[in-house]
Amino acid sequence: MMCAASLASAETVWLSSLDLKRMTSGWSVPKVDLGVAGKPLSIGGKQFARGVGTHATSKLRVDLGRKANRFFAQVGVDDSAGGQGSVEFIVAGDGKILWQSGLVTGGKPAVPVDVNVAGVGVLDLRVTDGGDGSGSEHADWAEAGIEMQAGAQAPTALLPFETFSLRTKSFALEFRVGDDGRLYQNVLGAPDVNEPPQRLDEAYPQWGDGYIWEPALQVSHADGNTSTALLYDGATRTNEAPDRELLRIKLRDSAYPFEVTLCLRAHRGRDLLEQWIEIRHHESGAVKLEHMASSALLLSPTNLHLAHFFGDWAKEMQPTTELLTPGTKVLDSKIGVRAHQFRNPSFILSLDGTPSETSGRVLAGSLAWSGSFQCAFDHNGRGVRALCGVNPFASGYTLAAGETFTTPTMIWVWSDQGLGDMSRKFHAWARDFGLRDGHVPRAVLLNNWYATGFDFDFNRIVGLFDPAKEIGTELVLLDDGWFGNKYPRVNDRAGLGDWQPNRRRLPDGLAPLAAEAVKRSLRFGIWIEPEMANPKSELFEQHPDWVIAQAKRELELQRNQLVLDLTRPEVQQFEWHIIRDILSVTGISYAKWDCNRYLTQPGSSWLGPHRQSHLWIDYVHALYGLMDKATKTFPKTELMLCAGGGGRVDYGALRYFHEFWPSDNTDPLVRVPMQWDYSYFFPLMSIVSHATHSDNRPMHFGCSVAMSANFGMDLDLVKLPPEDKAICAGAISAYKRIRDVTQLGDLYRLERPHAATRGALNFVSSDRARAVVFVFQLKDGPVLPVRPQGLDASRRYVVRELNPELGRPGLATEGKSIAGEDLMRDGIVPSCSKALEACVIELAP
Ligand code: GLA
Repeated sequence: MMCAASLASAETVWLSSLDLKRMTSGWSVPKVDLGVAGKPLSIGGKQFARGVGTHATSKLRVDLGRKANRFFAQVGVDDSAGGQGSVEFIVAGDGKILWQSGLVTGGKPAVPVDVNVAGVGVLDLRVTDGGDGSGSEHADWAEAGIEMQAGAQAPTALLPFETFSLRTKSFALEFRVGDDGRLYQNVLGAPDVNEPPQRLDEAYPQWGDGYIWEPALQVSHADGNTSTALLYDGATRTNEAPDRELLRIKLRDSAYPFEVTLCLRAHRGRDLLEQWIEIRHHESGAVKLEHMASSALLLSPTNLHLAHFFGDWAKEMQPTTELLTPGTKVLDSKIGVRAHQFRNPSFILSLDGTPSETSGRVLAGSLAWSGSFQCAFDHNGRGVRALCGVNPFASGYTLAAGETFTTPTMIWVWSDQGLGDMSRKFHAWARDFGLRDGHVPRAVLLNNWYATGFDFDFNRIVGLFDPAKEIGTELVLLDDGWFGNKYPRVNDRAGLGDWQPNRRRLPDGLAPLAAEAVKRSLRFGIWIEPEMANPKSELFEQHPDWVIAQAKRELELQRNQLVLDLTRPEVQQFEWHIIRDILSVTGISYAKWDCNRYLTQPGSSWLGPHRQSHLWIDYVHALYGLMDKATKTFPKTELMLCAGGGGRVDYGALRYFHEFWPSDNTDPLVRVPMQWDYSYFFPLMSIVSHATHSDNRPMHFGCSVAMSANFGMDLDLVKLPPEDKAICAGAISAYKRIRDVTQLGDLYRLERPHAATRGALNFVSSDRARAVVFVFQLKDGPVLPVRPQGLDASRRYVVRELNPELGRPGLATEGKSIAGEDLMRDGIVPSCSKALEACVIELAP
């Protein structure tokens, strides 16, 4: 601290006599009695002996002790800027602007300032870049002085310290600017402390200038310097909607024209934050970003548990929960393209031990990114930092001066009432922002994949339409196998890339098939996999350099196919034309966009030797570009996201889609827990679930499980026995009756099915007038009541089993009107107790 001396009489204290180390400057450091470039102060050709030379953006806070009379100066852009530069000078007192210069440009004469500051506690002198970026913004406070009252303490320069927070209904993220000018985050879940922050608490830690733990940002600057030191440079708040606020926190390197903006969008009522980072610079050459996390939240390490979801093909979303202990736990993917094959980029942090559905503080995180990702949980003893973003592994990104690198968005959802409340908030956000048409209940779909596989022709497919219509299906989808002529797609070994309808199977193309569906008032959909090629294809014969491969290495195939290099403009155009031409076919109103392999040989013949590491990021951006174009050109076409099952389930891709195919495993015994686990993050309207013949489970059980999500079937309806057909028709009709509740209402997960004899959930409509309860019997078990949640306690509900299974006694309470309070307390005894039985109960007025 400066030692404050008393002034004998009213006198002027020159600004240049204050401790200018506490003044910030956008470039170099503030100078005493010189311009920022080190030459004498000079504005509009006139020299000044005294004053402070600085560079926008700049800030100096001065403690006046309410004992000053006037602040005065001559301000302007210093002539060392060579006539360039445009800035604004601002004088504020206790947060209120007292004077501002308006735009002041280089070469113009000095502007006089004389402001009455009587009664002001903290004087704030700022120079902004005038809103047009900061280059050559040499700004002078010439002849600047403060006239103090007689006997007053001398004014002192203060640290540019500020605190601010982002608040939602029950969550607060708090920041403070340290004495060193860096930005710190108050540790989430830790008791309030007044002690100064430590480097460990940095809000967005950067590598190379003192921070020794896992960094959020690592940069090689244009001159080779590998350190970054970001100082707080102001924050702006924008109310985007009554319930939505965007906070942008600007950080600026102390020595380089390099800036980072932390962007946080708060959905207040939902306790949901979207966070991303923007990185820009004006260095003399390109900089290399080595680490660039989207988010780096800091949590208290006490009893902190992490729930995450690993898997593989047909085994997606398997949960595991563990206590976080010292060290770094990494969940990541290094496979690009269908990056979540082995783990979803979504997790739950629980601050009160293992999470529960109805109590405890939980924070769900989900990265909206369909490429290689990394979520690292760095437990350093004092806190746990959750670093989430693109995987820094082998992904260095060269950023040219003037360009902006925007990270993927990280979504955080908070609840202090457990997992159920957390998911309901997540689902409500997803319906509004995360999915397309999130308020439109989904149609019942019939697919041919499990029914015919690759073995079909026009008549075989049209043969499915009448029975589909008969049982109430609304949409038919033709899956893989409809294209390729030189190399017909009769199995998965050939034809990918050649998107002309196969002339033998579909002699007149897709339109007549779609017309047959439309004629029966069925919508028609088609399977595409635009990003891929079989080596056995005309496409690969013509363009062998279009695939992602490593030169000098033998091509490694997965499912006999290769990924096209979407960073290449010709490939982008080729894929767009495929999508455009197929979706333009009259009668097509639905598409399943598949992606059946990931990257194992990440080489691009387009990117050149120095930008190979861009492949991971540029591929995803090009993919989103295609998806975006598809949704804009075909806004009415419904899209299903698929990647050999759930290899690409994230909110990055999902915003272009209506739903996703969670797994090629359609066994309802597997789907009950799998859908439960997906539902932590994704609403059931987005989780496609089909009744199939796979694993030979009873049709009633399969349909009941599927209709709790986005219902469809994948059955050979021509061969389906009449009793099974009747079960399907019953399930479809029941589904149509309740789908507004299951898809648009609130989900309550009641009984966890993992390693249990049964699982149960219920949905409640937003007005709480209607509800639906699902009970899935996984093993034989005792007959026990199921207790729904979220009902209106004072309302009465009529209990009715939907699509009851023939030959099984119905509900004892069938047709009874029961108060919500009683239903929630005493429960309902379901009609199922044996393995592979299910019971769907409607509660309605
Ligand atoms: C992937 C999908 C399946 C099906 C096949 C077709 O495996 O997940 O649903 O579309 O491709 O080849």
